[in-house]
Amino acid sequence: DKGGYKHFMAKEIAEQPVVMTEVLGHYVKSDGIQFPNQDIDFKSINRLTMVACGTAYYACFVAKYWFEQLAGLPVEIDVASEFRYREPPITSGTAALFVSQSGETADTLAALRYCAGKADKIIAVVNVPESSIARESDVVLPILAGVEVGVASTKAFTNQLMTLAVLALEAAHQRGRLTDAELGDYLENLRSLPGILNTALGIETRCEEISLKLAEARDILFLGRGRMYPLALEGALKLKEISYIHAEAYASGELKHGPIALVDQHVPVIVIAPRDDLFDKTVSNMQEVMARGGRVLLVTDQKGAEEAGDGVWETLIMPEVDAFFAPILYAVPAQMLAYYTAVAKGTDVDQPRNLAKSVTVE
Ligand code: F6R
Repeated sequence: DKGGYKHFMAKEIAEQPVVMTEVLGHYVKSDGIQFPNQDIDFKSINRLTMVACGTAYYACFVAKYWFEQLAGLPVEIDVASEFRYREPPITSGTAALFVSQSGETADTLAALRYCAGKADKIIAVVNVPESSIARESDVVLPILAGVEVGVASTKAFTNQLMTLAVLALEAAHQRGRLTDAELGDYLENLRSLPGILNTALGIETRCEEISLKLAEARDILFLGRGRMYPLALEGALKLKEISYIHAEAYASGELKHGPIALVDQHVPVIVIAPRDDLFDKTVSNMQEVMARGGRVLLVTDQKGAEEAGDGVWETLIMPEVDAFFAPILYAVPAQMLAYYTAVAKGTDVDQPRNLAKSVTVE
């Protein structure tokens, strides 16, 4: 049942504030973080290896920043199809964490089986608690996103991020990197996210307008820095997956090492950059693009829009959010730009060609 929406994807985008509240309520109680019936000891862990595919991999990529910065834990991330055949050494004190909406992705499951018996702990972050990946893990953290029908993952991604954010905070707290008061502040910020995301859904009309122009492009570039780099990757994946427009994402600072050669007036460049501590760097990358005739769509907040200066093609203004958890909020423009571009092109949004919801063969 699409609940009055034109596509499951639109319904699932709109459901995000509700399912985010659900997962927060599950892991964050009035007296702090709880992982019901799960035993996770981050004091005995000295390395975290996160493995997944596609959008779930990008959730790991965002979480890498959180675990490293908050918990001081070295994190390795990899796509499952590479990890499993590379057969990397798993040193003692390693926790291996697998993220999967379906819990049945063949490569992710194989990577998990490779780690079984080698890693100190196998942790699964899944949407389907009775899935194979969940069954074969020591610790299972459901993301409680509800059934996701659209092939393009949306609400599962944001709830993967919510779950991983709580886990990173727990790791930081256990490892003595956050005091109770600091943890409380971070949790307060997390609690405000569903409401802010609800406000962010209001960018819909603007996304629809801008997408009419994006739909005419043959190639689109996405740029992001730091915690926003994985969001650029996610935006490009969503766009190519459902609109069939060729899209690539780069870390903003990599632009001048090659990809800038692609830039001309026909290639829209979508820059995902809230006004954070790296904003000035991103603005200078943006100016390099504009100096070569590139059309920049800047996705930022009010302050960022004011500081960006002239010459920007389009600006999409997001609500203010704490910089640390901004990647969760910026999933919305990544999803909506892809969605409305696909709608403008008339593609099959919920069932894009050549793709399956659950990839159970490698
Ligand atoms: C993209 C998308 C895929 C999945 C990937 C992993 O929108 O949905 O990239 O994220 O196939 O699937 P799961 O999470 O089921 O392991």
